[in-house]
Amino acid sequence: MSILLTGGSGKTAPRVAALLAADKRPYLLGSRQGPSAASNGHPTVKFDMGDESTWTKPFETTPIKAVYMMEPRIATPWIPMNKFVDLAKTKGVSRFVLCAGNSAQIGKDGMGRVWEHLIESGVDYCVLRPSWFMENLIEDGLKFTIGKMGKIFTAAQDGEIPFISADDIAEVAYHALTDEKSYNSDLSILGPQNLTYDQIAEILTKVLGRKIEHVKQDEAGRIAGLVQHNLSEYFARFLTNLELLASKNFEKGTSDAVERVTGHPPLSFEQFAEKNKAAWS
Ligand SMILES: NC(=O)c1ccc[n+]([C@@H]2O[C@H](COP(=O)([O-])OP(=O)(O)OC[C@H]3O[C@@H](n4cnc5c(N)ncnc54)[C@H](OP(=O)(O)O)[C@@H]3O)[C@@H](O)[C@H]2O)c1
Repeated sequence: MSILLTGGSGKTAPRVAALLAADKRPYLLGSRQGPSAASNGHPTVKFDMGDESTWTKPFETTPIKAVYMMEPRIATPWIPMNKFVDLAKTKGVSRFVLCAGNSAQIGKDGMGRVWEHLIESGVDYCVLRPSWFMENLIEDGLKFTIGKMGKIFTAAQDGEIPFISADDIAEVAYHALTDEKSYNSDLSILGPQNLTYDQIAEILTKVLGRKIEHVKQDEAGRIAGLVQHNLSEYFARFLTNLELLASKNFEKGTSDAVERVTGHPPLSFEQFAEKNKAAWS
């Protein structure tokens, strides 16, 4: 029986796939791009949470016992996601692992509605609630501003964030999908330190050997900056709102979940920066 990992081209699913492959467990990636999204030869089928005609595709390939899901970038995502959970159940899936965020609450619009549905459906489940991914800093936008301009623009002010590596999230997801006993709860997946972007800039300055500066923007300035860099107004507002929440320490917290589940502490930002410094060169 196989494990379906949706979000096949994202930051966590390919990492979970690599762990499953190393353990010789069968798995299948699902991606809106279909097999062309396959990295490292991972078996991949077309899967789009926003397009019901693709939902049965993975089941035509192999029997599936568990599914890894995340928030698709579509309106009211919980409606198709809950419908997909119902379909997957009829196909024999008995465990779901959902990658949500810190703000998810059972029953609240967003991933909270999927969380609620998993509980009500009586399936085995785990809801991962990671803080912000360290890997955001090596994606196109921040890779460019850090690498070329020596700057990090945010509206997060002096808010503290327990940045977490996608490697640690993937390892927790791997356990939630494969451990004999299902967690049937949520796990707050946080990095080892609460860091402001000023502190992130200081660490990058030390690791890269050149000045990196955190530029604190107000709401309007941040939205305008993101729109100028080709983000839609909707997504620019969404990201800015997350940063404004973070400025009030919404993300701040501690959790021993990574160590408890994986047996090792989560990666620190300094270790992450050392490992990825070529990305900002
Ligand atoms: N990034 C963060 O800092 C952060 C923090 C806390 C929580 N999270 C949560 O972690 C999850 C992933 O985070 P992310 O936004 O950073 O993205 P990501 O890891 O880069 O993955 C997002 C993936 O979602 C898949 N996706 C998008 N629309 C889809 C659709 N209609 N149907 C199926 N799959 C779809 C895409 O995969 P394909 O194109 O291959 O289909 C995309 O690569 C989300 O649930 C998010 O809420 C992220």
